[in-house]
Amino acid sequence: MYTYLNDSFVPEEKAFLHISDLAIQRGYGIFDFFRVINNYPLFIDDYLERLFVSAQEMHLKIPYSSNQLKEIIFDLIRKNNLPVSGIKVILTGGYSPDGYQLPDKPNLVISQKPMTFPPPVFPTSGIKIITHEYLRDKPHVKTINYVVGIWIQNKIKEHNAADVLYYYNGIVSEFPRCNFFIVTDDNVVVTPGENILEGITRKHVLALASEKFKIEVRNVTLEEALNARETFMTSTSKRIVPVVQIDNQIIRDGKPGRITRELFDSLVMLEEKELMKGSK
Ligand SMILES: Cc1ncc(COP(=O)(O)O)c(C=O)c1O
Repeated sequence: MYTYLNDSFVPEEKAFLHISDLAIQRGYGIFDFFRVINNYPLFIDDYLERLFVSAQEMHLKIPYSSNQLKEIIFDLIRKNNLPVSGIKVILTGGYSPDGYQLPDKPNLVISQKPMTFPPPVFPTSGIKIITHEYLRDKPHVKTINYVVGIWIQNKIKEHNAADVLYYYNGIVSEFPRCNFFIVTDDNVVVTPGENILEGITRKHVLALASEKFKIEVRNVTLEEALNARETFMTSTSKRIVPVVQIDNQIIRDGKPGRITRELFDSLVMLEEKELMKGSK
């Protein structure tokens, strides 16, 4: 299996970075992640656009144009031939002489791993989540900092939950790796607009929802979330997952909701349309 490291393809077992990298020294870096299905990178343009925004926000210079990066990614897909997989594009802070100053040149890693994704079938049950008061650093940037998400894994398990929803000052934001949505009693599809990473799945779900329902991007209080008619999470690897319990509060009848299902089905159709592009 090949990994792309800075300027060349190297076998994965030889893809090393030096310990002076700011990612190791200070946890400084960004990344993005997308799915490959039938050897086609789904919604690649959306992810590359976000990668360039993250890089700019963090003063990291990507040594390629978006089109060049895309060509490298298509080459990697051809070389590895892992039809169902995930690709991570990581840009680290780079080699820092004193372990703190940001050097001119970041390190670029593009790695591909075989992965299985949930089938395109709406789940018959939803998940329980817990909440935790926390505001991510640079929430609108896809940084490599998942410290609290990883640290809190034991607590999630202790509560027999599947994930943790962050809130701050009574306003919910997102999960460590997913965005959050509610559906109100008036069938309005609402997602938080502040202190979040603008997920690509969130963007697609909002666009699909706006074809059928009223949508709102605004602050959502924890109180409103607990009393919502439906709640769900979105992410690249999970698509849409219904949330049926938040802490001790069961969301309505405790079953995945109708609008969540409709959005799930629309998202699967959108993916199929996008995949047709790859087969042309
Ligand atoms: C903090 C955060 N929010 C939301 C998401 C979901 O984004 P996407 O739909 O692009 O996977 C992610 C993805 O990893 C994330 O890290």
